[in-house]
Amino acid sequence: MSGMSQGQRSRSICIEPAARVHGALSVPGDKSISHRALILAALAPGRSSIRGLAGGADVRATRRCLEALGVEFTTFEELLLVEGPGLEGLQAPEQPLDCGNSGTTLRLLAGALAGSAVEATLTGDASLRRRPMARVTEPLRRMGARIEGSPGGADGEVAPLHVRGAGASGQPLRAIEHTSPVPSAQVKSAVLLAGLAAEGRTAVREPVPSRDHTERMLRLFGVDVLEEGGAVGFSGPCELVPARIDVPGDLSSAAFALCAAAGLPGSRLVVREVGINPTRSGVLDVLARMGVRLHRGNEDEMGFEPVADLFAVAPERLAPLHIEEAEVPRLLDEIPVLAVLATRAAGVSEIRGAGELRHKESDRLAAIAALLGALGGHAEVAGERLRIEGPQRLRGGTVHSGGDHRIAMAAAVAALFAEEPVTIEDAGCVEVSYPGFFEALQQLVVR
Ligand code: S3P
Repeated sequence: MSGMSQGQRSRSICIEPAARVHGALSVPGDKSISHRALILAALAPGRSSIRGLAGGADVRATRRCLEALGVEFTTFEELLLVEGPGLEGLQAPEQPLDCGNSGTTLRLLAGALAGSAVEATLTGDASLRRRPMARVTEPLRRMGARIEGSPGGADGEVAPLHVRGAGASGQPLRAIEHTSPVPSAQVKSAVLLAGLAAEGRTAVREPVPSRDHTERMLRLFGVDVLEEGGAVGFSGPCELVPARIDVPGDLSSAAFALCAAAGLPGSRLVVREVGINPTRSGVLDVLARMGVRLHRGNEDEMGFEPVADLFAVAPERLAPLHIEEAEVPRLLDEIPVLAVLATRAAGVSEIRGAGELRHKESDRLAAIAALLGALGGHAEVAGERLRIEGPQRLRGGTVHSGGDHRIAMAAAVAALFAEEPVTIEDAGCVEVSYPGFFEALQQLVVR
């Protein structure tokens, strides 16, 4: 493969510098929407169908956990058919449910299982077992959920978590209005999924709204989700009705090629049928502010989520980026690659209020600083703030992904901007959200 070579055992990949990016790209189905499609289809008694499900390891983990809970899946041409047993029909799994690297799988299933009639242990890989869980176990316990942490470990603060569904004890969950200290779609979704089995109005209030895929999809499955007094929720208990779901392309995956194009003058890129949900599309606003010419075509609602084709043309000169705390939830997963792009802008780029990045698949603030540092660049990280003075020349060299898919992909974009080839170690983790990422990027690169 010209320009990229894959190490056999180490799963390292070497990427050469690029002149520009040119062409059209279709990205895998949205990961966040795919998790929710599988879980809500399982909770809706009857047959639902999903088109365009993400194929990455995170979404496969959700599917495997649901299979262990007795949910049946059949592939029929490009459709995945889901036979939903409903909340009451879930079966107790024989083994702990392995959520792999996926926080969304673990936190959403904790919420869903809290109101079920089964008992299950939720666990995952070493990265997931380090991530904070009190943010979900605290509100779920207030709802009456019985959740135990790992024996001898911090009580409910990290996985494994053992959930005893309230349905088995005949003690239904209590509805709550939860005020989340952090904007987090996983926390909001865990509480709302538990609320399906609770008596009365369950609602969540956040400092800044996080992505609203759960709310949109609950409506598609027949739940009357309303925003009242700044809190989003509904009155339970609710029985879901099966639905047909079309999953749009994942903007978080498209962001890597879009940022690569943005940083290489002369680039032109089309991304087809990608989700542009306004709670997720902050990266597009930032790119436009930096001077990228961005157009949307063929806009469509696909039933519940807005979708468009995106056309991007790189500017001759990029303006630096400025992101305030209130905008962070709208581009949370795109910050590593935006930080890489900031090295191409003339002037000081700054991102404030990005502390949540420390609790992702890795400490992403530290990982961004390490990535740029390894290539001779520099990012200043102070508390929750990231500052990058550009333009910076990136040398070639070797970087380590730390097992974090978004860091591996951000490193690939840095490699296109660098002066010499860059080797990315532990690059196989891109499978988590974007199988085939390196090959897709390679197709677009002009050297
Ligand atoms: C996700 C929510 C985000 C995001 C993650 C996926 C989701 O995390 O970082 O990759 O699918 O709900 P938060 O829970 O911090 O919003």
